[in-house]
Amino acid sequence: MGAALAAPALRNEPDYAYTASQQYDIVVSENSFKFDLIEPTPGKFTFADADRLVAFAHAHGQQVRGHTLVWVQQAPQWAKAIHNRDQLIAVMRNHIHAVVSHFKGRVAQWDVVNEAFTGYGTLSTDSFWQQTIGDDYLDLAFQFAHEADPDAKLFYNDFLAEGVNAKADGILAFVKGMRARGIPIDGVGFQGHIAVNPDLVSYAANMKRFNDAGFETAYTEVDVGLHLPASQAELQDQATTYAGMLNVCLQAPNCHTFVTWGFTDRHSWISSQIPGYGDALPFDVALNPKPAYWAMINRLT
Ligand code: G3I
Repeated sequence: MGAALAAPALRNEPDYAYTASQQYDIVVSENSFKFDLIEPTPGKFTFADADRLVAFAHAHGQQVRGHTLVWVQQAPQWAKAIHNRDQLIAVMRNHIHAVVSHFKGRVAQWDVVNEAFTGYGTLSTDSFWQQTIGDDYLDLAFQFAHEADPDAKLFYNDFLAEGVNAKADGILAFVKGMRARGIPIDGVGFQGHIAVNPDLVSYAANMKRFNDAGFETAYTEVDVGLHLPASQAELQDQATTYAGMLNVCLQAPNCHTFVTWGFTDRHSWISSQIPGYGDALPFDVALNPKPAYWAMINRLT
């Protein structure tokens, strides 16, 4: 059970850090492993926030998921400005080797590539990685990560692919192709930024087909945004949704990781990016457990 943590809150809010240390056994950094924050200028790495999170995790016996090495967002302008395939491959190799080696043996799972597919299940052409390198940028990224830490679990991670749909179809076909080409990919992360009452039958069927194809799975960024202000009934629906999703993971032999994107409504990306929505996490702003928390505890026990 894990949560994404925000570096400023981890630094400045002792009650936030305490709850994170007591309630979870996996942590992810919400931003500080991302390319523009960790390599803001070519070859100059700023590991301070990421190191602090890893030290925090190890002090509390927690695993770390590394998020994320290759993504179109939160990539530095200097990398986006490269239009030569060989040069961008060299930048990618250097970035992945430097970051993954720095954390070798201390980061258990990596989201090697994040959000590379369209809703139609095709590889997105809106990414500078794809435009400059071509479709094989995913293969290369996984190979570079494996070279740097052969023991880390390597994941492809995406949103709106939790159920059986065109996007999940495309991802499944692609990762099967990677395996067939000998690319070292262990699993697929389904982010889980969802609304209440999802189609859990479809979620379970999707987990199963990735399982049958030999892939590990994880829910990597779960949150359940509510229209504000949320009523008690909506908080109960949210609780049922969290427990139902956790249940899908617990029942799937290949699902070993359930991470929420944050843990307290004090800090969440949702209200700034989806105005009018929020209250998406299992703890409220004062760090009191919400019905979603108790529903998950109930399912776990
Ligand atoms: O680092 C700058 C800082 O220097 C500047 O002063 C400040 C002013 O706005 O912005 C800071 O960057 C922000 C960054 O978070 C770090 O706080 C960006 O503006 C902001 O856009 C960025 O948002 C993050 C978002 O990814 C970027 O797309 C969210 O916190 C983070 O929760 C969100 O996480 C993503 C996952 O990585 C992938 N899946 C979807 C998920 C939600 O969007």
